Amino acid sequence: MSGGFVRVESPEEGIRVVTVDRPEKLNALNSEVLGELRAAVESAASDAALRCLVFTGAGEKAFIAGADIGELAKLTPIEGREHSRRGQALLDAIESLPVPTIAAINGYAYGGGLELAMACAIRIASENARMGLPETSLGIVPGYGGTQRLARHVGRARAFELVLTSEKGLTAAEAERIGLVNRVVPAGQALAAALETARKIRANGPAACRFALEAIRRGLDMPLAEGQVLEATLFGLCAATEDMKEGMNAFLEKRPARFRGR
Ligand code: COA
Repeated sequence: MSGGFVRVESPEEGIRVVTVDRPEKLNALNSEVLGELRAAVESAASDAALRCLVFTGAGEKAFIAGADIGELAKLTPIEGREHSRRGQALLDAIESLPVPTIAAINGYAYGGGLELAMACAIRIASENARMGLPETSLGIVPGYGGTQRLARHVGRARAFELVLTSEKGLTAAEAERIGLVNRVVPAGQALAAALETARKIRANGPAACRFALEAIRRGLDMPLAEGQVLEATLFGLCAATEDMKEGMNAFLEKRPARFRGR
């Protein structure tokens, strides 16, 4: 499934790669891109065989250089609010997907690009990537959840500084140091590294991965005691799956598990 600006490919069983393919504008998110991303996310959500979804950008230079500034410049206040809510809803849908998501940050990730990456479960950046939420330099605030997710990822002091200074020079190494990305790989290797991680995820119990994703994600917004109740409930639910029996039998029989996602 591919539209004009978003390519969706399945390079391997159980793994999909969504590529924002608008390199002449550094993969900036215009309305068409947002619509196509929405379709790609909805399609992923309904694919029971999917084990991991990877997002990346076309070309050597950019992951996604942000929302399309040409479009933003024309928004009325009402349209601006709607635009922001639409972007937030897309990124919420990515964050709520039942399968793990990985952002392969292959270059510039600014504004909506970094916001999309922050909605993913895992971020792998190439060493040439540069990140930031530079919206205040344009006279706006980050509007796709960035003010909220950045502080949750890196803490309030760094979020205040990055947003208020409109820093565009956050390197991949520094992003790794502050916990914004999981790891840094050589230039040109972000997608390959993301696929390697996706394969590791694919080898594990699909239902267990879904439950773990949900427990960590929802638990972060809960008091510890409530989060642990959720964890215990999902732990118990694992006992209803064939995957649990297969995983444990495989260990006891000293053979690799063959999970079927049931
Ligand atoms: N929206 C719309 N167009 C964008 C864009 C964006 N967010 N980011 C880049 N582009 C376009 C440029 O306008 C240019 O188009 P043109 O060739 O028709 O003039 C093209 O992509 C290439 O960008 P350019 O600025 O020439 O590349 P560069 O290597 O000199 O600089 C950046 C790269 C990423 C530093 C620079 O493009 C930039 O600052 N982009 C905006 C980042 C931003 O503020 N994002 C948050 C938006 S809310």
